Amino acid sequence: MSTASIAAKAVLKLEPEDYRILETIENQTQKYQYLPIEIISNTTSIHFQTAKHHLKLLQKKKLLSYQSQPYEGYRLTTAAHDTLALKELVDKNIIEKFGKPLGVGKESDVYDALAPGGAQVAVKIHRLGRTSFREVRRKRGYTAQHSDTPNWHKQSVVAARKEHIALKLLAPYGMVAPGPIARSRHILVMSMIEGAELYRYPAISNLKVVMREILDNIRLAYQRAKIIHADLSPYNIILQPNQHILIIDWPQYIRIDHPNAKSLLERDLKNVLDFFKRRQKLAVEKALAYVMT
Ligand SMILES: Nc1ncnc2c1ncn2[C@@H]1O[C@H](COP(=O)(O)OP(=O)(O)O)[C@@H](O)[C@H]1O
Ligand SMILES: [Mg+2]
Repeated sequence: MSTASIAAKAVLKLEPEDYRILETIENQTQKYQYLPIEIISNTTSIHFQTAKHHLKLLQKKKLLSYQSQPYEGYRLTTAAHDTLALKELVDKNIIEKFGKPLGVGKESDVYDALAPGGAQVAVKIHRLGRTSFREVRRKRGYTAQHSDTPNWHKQSVVAARKEHIALKLLAPYGMVAPGPIARSRHILVMSMIEGAELYRYPAISNLKVVMREILDNIRLAYQRAKIIHADLSPYNIILQPNQHILIIDWPQYIRIDHPNAKSLLERDLKNVLDFFKRRQKLAVEKALAYVMT
């Protein structure tokens, strides 16, 4: 069973005491890697023996991990972080029913879900740390630099928050990216899009039009929202059934006044143009001038 499906199941079954316990442990993760049982019992005002009973069950449900030395304590598993975030999204009437996987990326799991009223939405669970630490540090300026054991959950929350901001910056300018709906912790809910990543299309009939639309979207992001994707490739461009494109996966966006803005934009454009290379000749410099002016 995947981490997210353990969480989705837990959301339906847990008791209020369980949530009090999980939230208490979550609130103290900065201070304690494993939270002592006494503190859990005192903070939640749940009697020690009762707390112990709940903790054991939560551990059995794979929501907590346990240490016995140097003191008895518990910490949240990834499934528990998912559970807390999904629960908040359910309580706020953002989602009602969690669905099936839509895509497993390098740094996220994306699922579909039903919103109250029956609309389908996409739920992106950020999962940093799946690739190596060095890779993440190379790609993202905001990874903790001084810690040997980076807090991947915290980094995932930062990524989701950043992507949510990017989608909100882009939203007023038309259909460049999925529409932002809500976020809890490391989970971002956005509008559902149909179609498939550009790299899956070996032959595109209206190549010129598609390429032009991609450039126009990069330009719109640059000139109106004033941001650069900075991780653009045919993997993060979706060609929809209506033949229009959308750009996804924005947590690494930078503002256009970033010191490396031009070279990152150039890299984005190169990644896109390379895909069209054999069929369509357009110099990176020409594309760069088009986007920036
Ligand atoms: N809004 C969405 N609607 C439908 N599918 C999506 C949506 N966002 C992402 N996906 C699917 O999930 C995959 C991974 O998403 P992406 O944002 O690129 O994350 P990653 O950082 O893991 O690459 C995409 O390739 C796509 O198949
Ligand atoms: Mg991606």
